[in-house]
Amino acid sequence: MANEPIALAGALASFDALWSPRIVTTVNDYDVRVAKVEGEHVWHVHDHTDEFFCVLDGELRIGLREAAGERTVVLPKGSVFTVPRGTEHRPSSLSGASILMFEPTGTPTVGDRHEAVPGHVDATTGHAL
Ligand code: NI
Repeated sequence: MANEPIALAGALASFDALWSPRIVTTVNDYDVRVAKVEGEHVWHVHDHTDEFFCVLDGELRIGLREAAGERTVVLPKGSVFTVPRGTEHRPSSLSGASILMFEPTGTPTVGDRHEAVPGHVDATTGHAL
């Protein structure tokens, strides 16, 4: 963990890969990760942890498969949303977004259970900056 402030704009400018989060810092046993996204991620579930999203730029959509059915939440820039543990979800962005996430260190981007991972999605627990 860096002992100096980290400019998120600089962190985001340091990589181009989509759906491939970078760990900018940690808080207790949580990662703070940033990612660039465009297109669709993969439907997946985190069985044991909630997942926090904050949209830094662009617009993020998150498909949710809930007991009542499937819906999509739309998060414009500046919005936050927490996907509850155990809820199948699929983030997507039509025209691209930059996002920040909080999740326990070691949490895989594709969850504990997931559909077939497409080639453009990085199955990772996050990369160092
Ligand atoms: Ni997730």
